[in-house]
Amino acid sequence: MKEKLLAIEAALDSEIALVADNEGIEALRVKYLGKKGELTAILRSMGSLSAEERPVMGKLVNEVRASIEAKIGAKKEILAQEGLAKKLLDEAIDVTAPASIRTLGSRHPIAAVTEELENIFIGMGFDVADGPEVEYDYYNFEALNTPEGHPARDAQDTFYINSKVLLRSQTSTVQVRTMEKQKPPIRIISPGRVYRSDAVDATHSPMFHQMEGLVVDKGITMGDLKGTLELFAKTLFGEDTRIRFRPHHFPFTEPSAEVDISCFMCGGKGCSLCKKEGWIEILGAGMVHPNVLRGCGIDPEEYSGFAFGMGIERIVMKKYGITDMRLLYENDVRFLKQFN
Ligand code: PHE
Repeated sequence: MKEKLLAIEAALDSEIALVADNEGIEALRVKYLGKKGELTAILRSMGSLSAEERPVMGKLVNEVRASIEAKIGAKKEILAQEGLAKKLLDEAIDVTAPASIRTLGSRHPIAAVTEELENIFIGMGFDVADGPEVEYDYYNFEALNTPEGHPARDAQDTFYINSKVLLRSQTSTVQVRTMEKQKPPIRIISPGRVYRSDAVDATHSPMFHQMEGLVVDKGITMGDLKGTLELFAKTLFGEDTRIRFRPHHFPFTEPSAEVDISCFMCGGKGCSLCKKEGWIEILGAGMVHPNVLRGCGIDPEEYSGFAFGMGIERIVMKKYGITDMRLLYENDVRFLKQFN
């Protein structure tokens, strides 16, 4: 029995040397000291010993057990220290290494200008509304007093998903969507992407951005529209900016107008920016057509409203003197970096 005990300890010595991790050491502990372990088996067989032998062997078993426990404990300690050393090494920061340079991007001019426009109108008490880009024909045309066969549909030829669903060609869709779910007073703007089946050139893109505006309440007049747009133009382009209304036609407003601002480069004298006109066209506007109000369940005898819609790219281009719209979509960093 004594030889057996010494053999066990010798076996442990050679096994423990090979252990490299916590799982390994735990497996050894179970194998040698566990309930089904080798030492326990020997203890169990002690009953067969004589009364003289028993205390001697008992002492020896305890010594061997203590020795094995100590060896396993020591190995655990070594493993823990090795682990810590490795962790420290792995996580060490070389403070002498050159820092990696973090390149900061810049806001896209369309995003920056959109936010500027939003803030101007938020300051006047408008809320920002949103609408889907994939839209029903109903919201894009029908509810905007533009029934099938109306010539205004050709001017905004867009991309059809099927005969009833399309990519919206104007943010005016949000006028209808807002009036359907909200009763006056209504004061919203709605920036977003619109789509038209246009070929790409310096001033056209099949996708561009608009910002819609809509105000509906009792007693809203063309004077409110003019005042709102004048304040907007002065805030965006400077105190001296004037605005001009030219008669126009939109199916969903009556009367309708195209609105120009005096050129902020030359002050109206005529220069390359305004193409010698002195004026720059920036938006379409008008009084909400009674048919549109009625279609949204708003009584045109009780309420009136105005709406406007502007092309954001156009404003961005004029503001920064960009002459080719394609630059706004190519995402060339050399171009975008200039708007930091
Ligand atoms: N939706 C019109 C367009 O895209 C602009 C507009 C909006 C005109 C609101 C009047 C009122 O051309």
